[in-house]
Amino acid sequence: VTDQSPERFVSRRMRTSRPARLGKYGPWLRGPNIISFAGGLPDPAFFDAVGLREAYDHVLDTMPERALQYARGEGEPELREQAARVLTEARFPTAPQELVITSGSQQGISLIGTALIDPGDVVLVESPTYMAAVRAFGLAGARLVPVETDLDGIRPDDLETKIIRHRPKLIYLIPTFQNPTGITVPAARRSQIAAVLERHDVLLVEDDPYSELRFHGEPLPPLAADPRLQDKSIMLSTLSKVVAPGLRIGWLRVPAGLRPTFVAAKQTTDFHTSAIDQLAAAAYMDRRMRDPRRLDPVRDAYRNRSDAMIDTLEKLMPAGTRMTHPEGGMFVWVGLPDQLDSDLLLDHAVECGVTFLPGSGFYAEDPVRSNLRLSFCTYPVGTIEEGVRRLAAAVERAAG
Ligand SMILES: Cc1ncc(COP(=O)(O)O)c(C=O)c1O
Repeated sequence: VTDQSPERFVSRRMRTSRPARLGKYGPWLRGPNIISFAGGLPDPAFFDAVGLREAYDHVLDTMPERALQYARGEGEPELREQAARVLTEARFPTAPQELVITSGSQQGISLIGTALIDPGDVVLVESPTYMAAVRAFGLAGARLVPVETDLDGIRPDDLETKIIRHRPKLIYLIPTFQNPTGITVPAARRSQIAAVLERHDVLLVEDDPYSELRFHGEPLPPLAADPRLQDKSIMLSTLSKVVAPGLRIGWLRVPAGLRPTFVAAKQTTDFHTSAIDQLAAAAYMDRRMRDPRRLDPVRDAYRNRSDAMIDTLEKLMPAGTRMTHPEGGMFVWVGLPDQLDSDLLLDHAVECGVTFLPGSGFYAEDPVRSNLRLSFCTYPVGTIEEGVRRLAAAVERAAG
């Protein structure tokens, strides 16, 4: 009997791919009786529908023929100009022609896979790391190799060891308010990492969706901006966490020699990111995003929520629980006492009315099962405290 299932038509490289599960329940389990710390969803209270409507109106009133027509692969000049301004203000001097607009940074990651990865190429990653990137590089045929990570990010000594042993093509890092840990690589460690990458000629891919959401401490320039990494770094940015993820607007900063390859990969994927969305995003950035204090209400809210989450965790979780203290972004990474398995804890948590993402889903290799990720960005302080109380109750059940 021959196999008649439609699955026989699936390509070899997609055969093990399934829609992201993100634990048994995922970020989508929500409801009146569930407090979800699972998803990295911006608080919709901060979505600026009025400002965005004004931007779309402006575009449709003044340039409908451009907004509704096919457009160029690298992106609209107005949006690249705004994006270049943002990167330059973040201390990464950038000209518009250095950028390629993408449909969110996830597409940027996927384009890196298409443009740069041959089957068998090694990609180094943090441990833990952002798994949607691991999956995208994996689809392109990459072999993912984790680098040992401590509270300051990847360890330069292990980085060098792994580079010598595996000869990677590139390293994928989230140096600022990392997903899932919330960790930020300090300036001194950034410099050490840059020195190792320069010495061994490894391309850096810096994914930076969160740096504008800093609520403690002083901003750092991107690692990719280190002069030693000129022509050896790619930077990914997005409007998802600072305007709205539904927009699907991001950009890639790539060395000049790689730009034609990336534009070709982008054109092959979808010709270009929606022209009307690009032009509206540019108008929005021009009109509403020039004030450096514009994100202060979001930062204030996320600071209060993060502080409340950490305080309540410290008060209620069992002895031996560790957690990161993020200076920005959306996530706290919690290490439970070793005997607790966060995948098993999740069932108890759902019964108690709270969800999170188990840590095991964030490792390219050797998952640590006692870790878990909590997102503090979606709820007000009172709800966060109640959610942590429920989590502590679930831990008590799981331990008992
Ligand atoms: C580290 C990281 N990279 C990329 C993305 C994807 O963002 P986008 O909405 O821009 O595709 C996310 C979203 O959570 C993320 O955390």
